[in-house]
Amino acid sequence: MTELTDQKQSALAAIKASPTLDALEEQRVAALGKKGWVSLALKTLGQMGPDERKEAAPAIQAVRGEVAEAIEAKKAKLEASALEAQLAAETIDLTLPAPEQPKGSIHPVSQVMDELAEIFADLGFSVATGPEIEDDWHNFTALNMDESHPARAMHDTFYFPDKASDGASMLLRTHTSPVQIRSMKEQGAPIRLIAPGRVYRSDSDATHTPMFHQVEGLVVDEDIHLGHLKWTLETFFKAFFEREDIVLRLRPSYFPFTEPSVEVDVGYSNEGDRRVVGGHGDDDGHDWMELGGSGMVNRRVLEFAGIDADKYQGFAFGLGIDRIAMLKYGMNDLRAFFDGDPRWLAHYGFSPFDQPTLSAGVGVRP
Ligand code: DAH
Repeated sequence: MTELTDQKQSALAAIKASPTLDALEEQRVAALGKKGWVSLALKTLGQMGPDERKEAAPAIQAVRGEVAEAIEAKKAKLEASALEAQLAAETIDLTLPAPEQPKGSIHPVSQVMDELAEIFADLGFSVATGPEIEDDWHNFTALNMDESHPARAMHDTFYFPDKASDGASMLLRTHTSPVQIRSMKEQGAPIRLIAPGRVYRSDSDATHTPMFHQVEGLVVDEDIHLGHLKWTLETFFKAFFEREDIVLRLRPSYFPFTEPSVEVDVGYSNEGDRRVVGGHGDDDGHDWMELGGSGMVNRRVLEFAGIDADKYQGFAFGLGIDRIAMLKYGMNDLRAFFDGDPRWLAHYGFSPFDQPTLSAGVGVRP
């Protein structure tokens, strides 16, 4: 019995001192395992006489209970401290400051649309929108392009396979000009608006993408003439490019929805591999770049939109937003605009805090 007591004392000490769950398991096997000393002690009971066994059995069982209990207690302790260590290692310190560099950026197209809205708002224009899935009538017919009009073929239109319930052919709008029709029908005259947005054509190379952006402008009022158009475009481009030496050239052209029609070119010069607007486009690295179309609204279009064409005249223009963004911010491949490459966006994108305002400058670089 004294041997058993000694064994118990040293086992309890070893259990208490076990540094890990594995070490504790070794102690358990050494005591309570099949060949452990407790199990061996229990086996001796069989060789004892009844009286001796009566005394020894409860004593051995008591030792066994004590050892098992000590193992359980130590196991719980070791498990608790393992959990505590894990929790300590995986802590997140919520008091840490946010990352210094905000991740997102405003796409140059969005930025330029905000700049447009800001500049034209100052000239009394509101911003209008229309659907990108358009019907044939708004995109073409009401803009004086009936079904047989050759200009339709130039638009590389994406048509939908199914017609609308009223029989209309549906398409992805090829320009923002249908917003002119929708706005005139809704608001009547006088009107002064811009309509920026996405347009679609089946066309793709370094300067054309199947989706791109235009801004439409429309002014309808009494006694409107080409001089108003020229002043408006010049004033806009000076504010947009933030320089006074902008020179525009209006070139006679043809659009079914305007008469007369002009194409708008801006003078630029090459500085290194960058095009910079300003000055006349003639020679010595100077040239003209086409920015869009414009003209006096064709009276047929006013009539389609339900406006009294004897009383009201209008001018309209349509500019490529991506193009003027490239010119202002110095990108040279249009396709990169729509690749979604975070490196391009980090480089050319704008901070959400750089809201364009006329007082702070519409073209703040990030
Ligand atoms: N809608 C024309 C296009 O996408 C551009 C345009 C030309 C718009 C003349 C106009 C305009 O408002 O007057 O090719």
